[in-house]
Amino acid sequence: MAYENIIFEMEGNVAVIKFNRPKALNAINQAVLSELADALDKIEADPSVRVLVLTGQGDKAFVAGADIGHLAKLNPLQSRTFSRDGQELFFRFEMLSIPVIACVNGFALGGGCEIAMACDFIYASSNAKFGLPEINLGLIPGFGGTQRLPRLVGKALAKEMCMTGGMISADEAKDIGLVNKVFSPEKLLEETMKTAGIMASKGKVSMRAVKRAVDRGINLDLRSGCYYEAEAFMACACSPDMKEGTAAFLEKRKPEFKGELD
Ligand code: CAA
Repeated sequence: MAYENIIFEMEGNVAVIKFNRPKALNAINQAVLSELADALDKIEADPSVRVLVLTGQGDKAFVAGADIGHLAKLNPLQSRTFSRDGQELFFRFEMLSIPVIACVNGFALGGGCEIAMACDFIYASSNAKFGLPEINLGLIPGFGGTQRLPRLVGKALAKEMCMTGGMISADEAKDIGLVNKVFSPEKLLEETMKTAGIMASKGKVSMRAVKRAVDRGINLDLRSGCYYEAEAFMACACSPDMKEGTAAFLEKRKPEFKGELD
């Protein structure tokens, strides 16, 4: 598939997807969802991809939400399908075996904030703005926002954001735990790629295991989560990466993880 609404590039073994509708502040329509799904198919099929970074083209927006012109034309049943399609697509960021970083370089509103929250963590530029403004349109978040935001920042703050429809700054988003780190706009992508590079050098089996253990465990009671962790720990202990990692430490050299299962 040729892409018109996203840009998909590889930098070494890091995949970078840029939302590319800068004139509409990278708002998401059906074409964006289809192209994103196609790019995720490619990433899933390519074992050389070790990290995925999502960002927005231009200097103003990550993604300013679902395309309101598109939303306005949907009938109720189509709205539900649009919501379910977006939700399922964003679950794929969690289901990927590699880490996904949201590199938020401007507005992350509505669906844009929801994409970022479906990633493993968020880095933001100091001029980024986050919000779930759907209430201003007579709507509610439809791509998982009412579910992921309270899990990330707590129920009361999530309700305040969804009920006022207001925006918060990158620093405020960092204070409430929505964003991990804030950089100047000039440094954001460079710093994100540095972190991506560090993660890309780790063992693939243990990277997947830590992602699964946290994502599964967070919805379990502590004892069940720890049980899951022990099973994942055992799976890592069966991997050549574990043999390489421990041998490299004992031989005082850098590990060379191959990311193979046997
Ligand atoms: N959908 C469609 N077009 C959008 C858009 C969106 N979500 N956000 C911005 N645009 C378009 C504007 O219409 C404008 O287009 P024209 O130049 O053709 O008029 C262009 O992008 C630039 O936007 P503005 O002129 O409005 O720029 P600004 O700097 O004055 O304001 C903004 C920026 C505060 C982000 C403002 O554009 C805005 O409020 N956008 C809407 C944000 C929003 O409500 N998002 C939620 C969408 S609903 C959703 O996401 C539902 C869901 O969960 C599934």
